[in-house]
Amino acid sequence: MTTMTRAYAITAEAVAAEAQRTGESAEEIDVSNVVHLDDLELRDLGPRDVKLKILAVSAEHNITHAATADTINIAEARGGKIYPGNSAVGEVLEIGDEVTRLDVGDVVITHCNGEPDENGFPLRIWAYDQPESIGWYSKEAVVEDWQLIKAPLDSGLSLWEIAALPLRAPTAYHLWRRALGIYRVKVPYERQARLNVLSFGGGVGELFLMLAKAEGHNAFFCAGSKERRDSLEKLGIVGIDQKQFNRFASSDDVKAFNKHVKGLTDGVGMHLVCDMLRGPVFEAGMAVAARCGVNVSAGWQLSQVVSYNSTVQSVKQVTIDHTHYETPVGCEAATELYGSVFKPTIHNEIYSFEDLPRCFQEMHENTQTGIPIIRVADEMPESVKDLV
Ligand SMILES: NC(=O)c1ccc[n+]([C@@H]2O[C@H](COP(=O)([O-])OP(=O)(O)OC[C@H]3O[C@@H](n4cnc5c(N)ncnc54)[C@H](OP(=O)(O)O)[C@@H]3O)[C@@H](O)[C@H]2O)c1
Repeated sequence: MTTMTRAYAITAEAVAAEAQRTGESAEEIDVSNVVHLDDLELRDLGPRDVKLKILAVSAEHNITHAATADTINIAEARGGKIYPGNSAVGEVLEIGDEVTRLDVGDVVITHCNGEPDENGFPLRIWAYDQPESIGWYSKEAVVEDWQLIKAPLDSGLSLWEIAALPLRAPTAYHLWRRALGIYRVKVPYERQARLNVLSFGGGVGELFLMLAKAEGHNAFFCAGSKERRDSLEKLGIVGIDQKQFNRFASSDDVKAFNKHVKGLTDGVGMHLVCDMLRGPVFEAGMAVAARCGVNVSAGWQLSQVVSYNSTVQSVKQVTIDHTHYETPVGCEAATELYGSVFKPTIHNEIYSFEDLPRCFQEMHENTQTGIPIIRVADEMPESVKDLV
């Protein structure tokens, strides 16, 4: 029997119309003009499929990348339309004949590794560049069981906090184990236990620092948002106001930032830096690198291309590493840390499903005070009623 549901879509037509209206200026684009509610026919349940009622989702930046077509025009590349959404919490409504890990009534989170390579790393991301993939900014969804993880409902987190993590926590977890692993090739634990760890603004960077803090390192958060800095300071993570350094607009700003960081770290600098933004942030992150430092990134919000002085970095023994998203088993491991390590900062409004386009525009405008969450289900299952 055909199941119809309501789902948000981005069409190449809407992307083109908004680009034309704004003269192709990414800053002026109103994302809410590009994301539209649509009728979606769900596929029939296959033997490994699970049908979900979506309870809550978090807003992720790739919808902005899709709406502004700043990386590639993904809606056009995917044949004219995508159904976005790659981070969700849902209730299992039905399972296929071969599904044994999950049961009807379970509450699950999704991961967005759309197609693992031979080492588990994603070749493509679900609901973005994975062909035929349908995202979860919808009332209901059908997905294969390997993409689902049981939600840790006893982690001490609210449903909204759990909804903040399915995409960002595995990304941070992977960045963390890569950064630390690379540093330890150069400087073993035996020689140095405590590292200086810096991240710039954003949910992924915050979670990266929570991992660092939980393992006893010195953690520093350089962001423009006072609310987000205050929230991390409660966990003992030192805030640095990025706007005090004019978001590194000039080389003097970078120099002043470097001086400030050296003051905070006894002249040593940062052993690990997480930079999801690139652009001017990259220069700043590289300037404060300690000897043998590692600079990791899985994002390119401000620019896709960076340049650096190879000689200087060689002499300093600095490594620049690129990651994307976790392996499916890594996503499971990251989920074990919900609540004990990962305590996400949530934006102060929980958006309704109808307000999803406005939520994305506000994310684009960078006016939110934490990770933005959208409540999708009006009626919540009994198992999460105490968590909302
Ligand atoms: N590869 C992956 O799997 C993956 C996963 C998640 C995210 N990402 C990418 O990583 C980036 C960050 O995502 P997120 O989820 O961590 O962020 P987020 O929670 O959505 O927050 C975005 C942050 O960007 C900062 N920002 C915005 N404009 C800025 C500017 N002009 N200069 C400096 N900072 C600015 C803001 O920090 P302040 O204003 O407070 O400084 C804000 O907190 C996005 O581009 C996203 O696409 C990649």
